[in-house]
Amino acid sequence: DWNAEHIIDELIEGVRAQVGDGRVLLAISGGVDSSTLGLLLARAVGEKLTAVFIDHGLLRLGEREQVEAALRPLGVNLVTVDAREQFLGALAGVSDPEQKRKIIGREFIRAFEREAREYGPFDFLAQGTLYPDVIESAGGEGAANIKSHHNVGGLPDDLAFKLVEPFRTLFKDEVREIARLLGLPDHIRMRHPFPGPGLAIRVLGEITPEKLDILKRVDDIFISGLREFGLYDGCSQALAVLTPIQSVGVMGDERTYSYTAALRAVTTDDFMTAEWARLPYDFLATMSNRIVNQVHEINRVVYDITGKPPATIEWE
Ligand code: XMP
Repeated sequence: DWNAEHIIDELIEGVRAQVGDGRVLLAISGGVDSSTLGLLLARAVGEKLTAVFIDHGLLRLGEREQVEAALRPLGVNLVTVDAREQFLGALAGVSDPEQKRKIIGREFIRAFEREAREYGPFDFLAQGTLYPDVIESAGGEGAANIKSHHNVGGLPDDLAFKLVEPFRTLFKDEVREIARLLGLPDHIRMRHPFPGPGLAIRVLGEITPEKLDILKRVDDIFISGLREFGLYDGCSQALAVLTPIQSVGVMGDERTYSYTAALRAVTTDDFMTAEWARLPYDFLATMSNRIVNQVHEINRVVYDITGKPPATIEWE
């Protein structure tokens, strides 16, 4: 019989036994796993933990501030790093999806190493690895690897930390329950998954600061709308895509020639297959109106009605 309070005590004891007086480094992504791990480690080792949040400029509107506001008051020694220029510079002129992922993975390791040296030395690297991750990486190539998912790996020898992975035996639901008891706010605790490369794979083709800015505003309207209408928790994942398609529209007496945004929401158990979410027409109409009224660079909104397979959840 699974008792979260008891598990938390056991995890904390386990971490203390493993790390002793050692210093621990953790990369925070803003997702539920790394955020919960940050809270657990703060309880276990206090200031011996340094949690690093790298802002690559590909995050949702206000996300960095939300993570700071959630973790710092609960005692997490959190360093946020503004690496936006580094990432956007490296991505300039790149339009191939796999190339984007490679560049982001590479720049992430570069940024992470830099911060590890800046705040180090560290003895341990903590990771929010869950039980299904353990199984999946033991299983080798699968449909999940069609797109190269990036994780922290391949660090140089002088950053050869010992790994701390307290969640290795846990499932996502169990981490969410632990998160609740540790005080993680619901907007992070119940958040949909968000890919490591972030909005880079949702601005189709070449990424510019202007396009990222447009997508952030569209995405914010859609995700806030789902929450407002009580539809968020019924979807497994929801996202907005900025397409490179420009089309003709009319606004007042003016002809417009602007971008098309695509909205996508899916339901799934395992993200290997997915159905498009049957969101109410009235909700979609409201989203469409809000987006074209508030984001002037958009004059057309479409909803993706394709399952996975044949489509993937992301558009890149
Ligand atoms: P697809 O698009 O392959 O997505 O149907 C399945 C799930 O994986 C996420 N995804 C990624 N996550 N790095 C990540 O960390 C990636 O490069 C990446 N690509 C896709 C996607 O958001 C969905 O939850």
